[in-house]
Amino acid sequence: MFTRRDLLAAAPAAAALVSTAAAGTAALAQDGATAPAGFTPFRFGVISDPQFAPVVPNATATRFYGNSLWKLDAAIAELNRHDDLEFVVTLGDIIDRHWESYGHILPVYDRLKHRKHFLLGNHDYDYPAEWIPSVIRTVGMPAPYYDFAVKGIRFIVVDGNDVSTFAPPKDDPRRALAEERLAKLKETGAENAQSWNGSLSDQQFAWLDERLKAAQAAGERAILLCHYPVYPANEHNLWDSERIVELVKAHPHCLAWFNGHNHAGNYGAIGKQHFVNFRGMVDTPDTSCFAIVSIQQDRIEIQGFGREESRVLDLA
Ligand SMILES: [Fe+2]
Repeated sequence: MFTRRDLLAAAPAAAALVSTAAAGTAALAQDGATAPAGFTPFRFGVISDPQFAPVVPNATATRFYGNSLWKLDAAIAELNRHDDLEFVVTLGDIIDRHWESYGHILPVYDRLKHRKHFLLGNHDYDYPAEWIPSVIRTVGMPAPYYDFAVKGIRFIVVDGNDVSTFAPPKDDPRRALAEERLAKLKETGAENAQSWNGSLSDQQFAWLDERLKAAQAAGERAILLCHYPVYPANEHNLWDSERIVELVKAHPHCLAWFNGHNHAGNYGAIGKQHFVNFRGMVDTPDTSCFAIVSIQQDRIEIQGFGREESRVLDLA
């Protein structure tokens, strides 16, 4: 459980984050990924994989689907104590299964006083296909993939369910394309050739490239948000993670890729580009995890709560 002791343990780090944020802007180096002059630090919250369902824990007793209601409620109470957060993003797997689960968990999010952003994971589609056309509007997303800017950082929400075996509506050609991609990947023996992963359509991939270029042209830096990891190599990675990593590498103003999906968490870096897999809230009977991320001019600071790790990611 996220306890008062966890809070007290996190307090000095929180104070440091506030004081560095208050330090404001300073003279800045001018290499590709470094903040433009006048950059103002800011913070936002991250939650991943609450994966609620009104069902008993799984057979291996690692996922406690029902407990995510009170874990999320406690996380939101803590995030509400931090007035300066620009938004709180949930990195997918809001529910584990059953359409009705949204009716239980979305009202908990209504208590969040900050702007909220959602993206969807594989479990967010685990119900009869008749419901699929409603899910984007039900959780309040503007589109399956979209972007928004905060103080010189462009956040690009990537939809890894786009070409998958579970998310496209019935009879959508992307279902057949997904079967094809998965079969091809299985032939190579790739560890991420799993039916619970997905990939981007070529249309979305072109959109992502265009958004990254537009951010660069506007003098913005970018952070990518997705349910699925792409780096380092892992069985949870998107099927087309290689082409995505190449695209990220080609855009040095892209600072980070943040994701969930692998509940154990993970981290990797390519130069100064950081790939952070946040841990899954649904795991364990009584411990939680979430984070506050602080974007500074020369680094990203992640303040982990509960099981989430605290990290400092160097950008300079
Ligand atoms: Fe998950």
